[in-house]
Amino acid sequence: MTPAPTRSPAKAAETPDGDRIAKVIARAGICSRREAEKLIADGRVTVNGKVISSPALNVTGREKITVDGKDLPAQEPARLWRYYKEPGLVTTARDPEGRPTVFDKLPGDMPRVVSVGRLDVNTEGLLLLTNDGELARLLELPSTGWTRRYRVRAFGAVTQADLERLKGGITVEGVRYGPIEATLDKVQGSNVWLTLGLKEGKNREVKRVLGALGLRVNRLIRLSFGPFQIGDLQPGEVKQVPNRVLMDQLGAHAAQFEQETVAPRHAQKQDRAGKKPSGPKSGGGKPSAGKPSSGKPAGKPPRPHRAGAPDKKGDRKRGPEQNGPMHKGKSHADRRRRP
Ligand code: URA
Repeated sequence: MTPAPTRSPAKAAETPDGDRIAKVIARAGICSRREAEKLIADGRVTVNGKVISSPALNVTGREKITVDGKDLPAQEPARLWRYYKEPGLVTTARDPEGRPTVFDKLPGDMPRVVSVGRLDVNTEGLLLLTNDGELARLLELPSTGWTRRYRVRAFGAVTQADLERLKGGITVEGVRYGPIEATLDKVQGSNVWLTLGLKEGKNREVKRVLGALGLRVNRLIRLSFGPFQIGDLQPGEVKQVPNRVLMDQLGAHAAQFEQETVAPRHAQKQDRAGKKPSGPKSGGGKPSAGKPSSGKPAGKPPRPHRAGAPDKKGDRKRGPEQNGPMHKGKSHADRRRRP
C-alpha cells in the first residue's frame, strides 16, 4: 500500500490518518470512487471482517478489506493504456443486455482496468484505460482541461458558419454544452465529415449538439483525449503509455498524483525495458521516438490531428505519433486478471 500522503497539521487535525475507503478501492482498479461508494452502500465491502455501510471511513492500508468476499487486490503503480475501441462494444463492466464489452475484448494478460470516461456503443477510436480509478477520475475532470477530439460523419448539410455557432457553447433540450471547435472537412454525397474538439465529454455530446444543427451522426471516431492520440493504433489494439510520458502529460497535476500513486522510478525503468508482448496483437512493442507535442492539462489545446476522412478502415492519414513513445504493456507475474 502506498503510504498516506503528507498532510498539513491543520488538515491532520481535522481528518483521521489514511485515505477514504472508496478512494482506496478505486486505486485498486476495481471501479471508480463513486462506484466504490455504491458498493459500500450496497453492503458489499468489509473492513476487518465487518460489513461497512458508510464511505465516511479512513483506512491506513493495514486493514483487511474485501469486496464481494474477495480480498482487495494490492495497489499497484498507476498505469495508463491507449486502446482502440471498435464499434459495437459497450464501455461498461457488465451489460444488462448482454452485449460484448470493451473489457471482454482486452488481451488476457491485462490487469484489471477501468476506462477513462465512456464511448457510446457505436463510437470507435481512442479510449484510455487505467488500473487506477483515481487516475481515471483525475483525467475525466473538466478542471484537467483536456480536449477530446472527434472525427464525425453525419447525414445532413451544414456550413462552416453554422458550426461557428458552437464556439460559444449551446443549450440543447435544457442541457448546456461548453464551447466546441468544429470544422467542416468535406461534403461527401449526403454526408458531411467534421472534426470536433470539446472539453467536457457530456453524455452523447457530439450527437446531441450536431442533432441540434440538423445533422444525424452515423460514424464517430475519437482521435485524441488530451495529449494522447489514437496515432497508429489498430482497431482492438492496446498499448501502454510509459509512466514517464504519463507524468509529463499530467503536468501540474503530476506532483500530487506521483506522491500518491504513479509508479516509482524502478517500475518506470521496468516499463521501458519491458519486451514481453502483452496480447494477441502485440508485435514486440518497439517504442516510437518523439516527445509529446500537444497540450498539458489546462494549457493550450493540442493541435488538431489532421486526419483524412476515414471512409474505410485504415483510411485515416497517419500523423506522427504525437504522444511520445508507447509500447505494449509488459507481463507482470502478479498481474491480476479481470473477473
Ligand atoms: N459524443 C457522443 O455523442 N458519443 C460518444 O461516444 C462520444 C462523444
